[in-house]
Amino acid sequence: MVKKVIDKQAYAFQQFSLLPGLTPRTCTMSSISLETTLAGVTLGVPLLSAAMTSVTGYDLALALAKERGLPILPARMSLEEQIDIVQRIKSTEMTFVEDPITVRETATIDEALRLVEKYGHSSIPVVDRNNVFLGMFIHSEYLARGIPVNENITTAMLYDPVVLCVQNPAISVDETVALLEKEKQPHLVVLDENRRLVKLAFKKDKEKLKVGLAITTHAGWQNRVRAGHQAGVDLFVIDSSDGFTEFQGDVLDEYKKMKIPVPICAGNVITYDGAMYLMEKGADMIKVGMSPGSTCTTFREKSTGRGSMTALLEVDRARNDFLKKNASLLYVPVIADGGIPGSAEMIIALTVADALMLGGYFNRFFEAAGEKINDRGGITLHDDDIAYVASWGEGSIRARNLGRYGHGGFVTFFAEGEEGRVPYAGRLKPNLKRDILKIKSAMANAGAMNLQEFRKKAVIELNSDGAGYINRNPHGLVK
Ligand code: IMP
Repeated sequence: MVKKVIDKQAYAFQQFSLLPGLTPRTCTMSSISLETTLAGVTLGVPLLSAAMTSVTGYDLALALAKERGLPILPARMSLEEQIDIVQRIKSTEMTFVEDPITVRETATIDEALRLVEKYGHSSIPVVDRNNVFLGMFIHSEYLARGIPVNENITTAMLYDPVVLCVQNPAISVDETVALLEKEKQPHLVVLDENRRLVKLAFKKDKEKLKVGLAITTHAGWQNRVRAGHQAGVDLFVIDSSDGFTEFQGDVLDEYKKMKIPVPICAGNVITYDGAMYLMEKGADMIKVGMSPGSTCTTFREKSTGRGSMTALLEVDRARNDFLKKNASLLYVPVIADGGIPGSAEMIIALTVADALMLGGYFNRFFEAAGEKINDRGGITLHDDDIAYVASWGEGSIRARNLGRYGHGGFVTFFAEGEEGRVPYAGRLKPNLKRDILKIKSAMANAGAMNLQEFRKKAVIELNSDGAGYINRNPHGLVK
């Protein structure tokens, strides 16, 4: 006899829609904040990259951290590799862009606009053939002035002293910060003695970059924790498809005894009981999801898992009960993981979750760790030639083959992840910027100025299959 049969259906993010609430006049794109705080770790955007070897390596970690998200380095990396990346991210002198994208003085405005679209940068230095700095193309300024796009770039650039410049390549981070504060400027252009461009500094980039590290429950996890803590890791994530285990309970017990002052995220769970178990064991936050991941075959092979939205709502119910029971304890953030391919799903998941973990979404970008592939199947790094990015689940055979560091177990291995490729989508920054705008726009629809308010005010509705299909897909159009 089965213990329990739940005969209500489970739902995915895709099946819900958000209903508008009253939008106050003050609720504008620039006033809406996407900040989220995960047990003391504040992020500017509520996004974590999946701890997958096809997704998060140094390049993606750096690109996401710069946008104020949180990259999570996969547990399948060797300890040395993880720590090397943490150290490089942490030592990034955030205020400096050492190798800025530039445009030549002979270019048209249209060419500069294409660079803005491709890289997502809003300011592009204009230089001559010797890299001598001539001026700055600033996208927002240009839009305000409305010059035709076929004009020469020099007609749309701003010059020194409107643009703050300094001829001192050795300028320190502290001096730069002080200068930007004093002059109340958004950026500083660093030049050499011949006025050649050396680097750029942005005031908004003052914050230290954040990075998280995945660990397993296998022997040796303590070494990763100690080394990661020393290197300045902001969050540890126990990486497991099923976190409702005594193995994970034991790790939490021991972690708490180690008194490491870094929060730890446990998971994944998809049930009320699973979430309660991990919270009672002292998890600082909970990660939710089993089976909706884009590379995941767990449901197909083992019929184990749950609809993404139902899992999230059940875990949310558990954390609310947990907090009611333990009023003295801190709020337990919840991270939705898996099955969030784009802005539409992000918006629905954020009506409940404090942050989201994304695999397939980031895998499509230039910075992802997977190989870039042209349409003939060859590997390439030429932007115009890239058609796909290689993608594989952490439970796939390819990922297992990387697991040379004590996560082996070939005798008992069966794949729980697919291997394939995803269509290439360009760089992370411009894509993220566009999707952030979409999230903010939905928050404005709901009348929310920040994510906390969004969770309180959001009203979502389950769609019938027919309504979902018709509403989601354009129809009646001929292309
Ligand atoms: P995505 O954003 O839909 O691609 O989901 C990413 C999530 O899928 C990861 O954070 C993991 O929780 C999960 N995942 C990654 N690799 C595998 C796998 O091989 N099998 C099952 N789930 C996986």
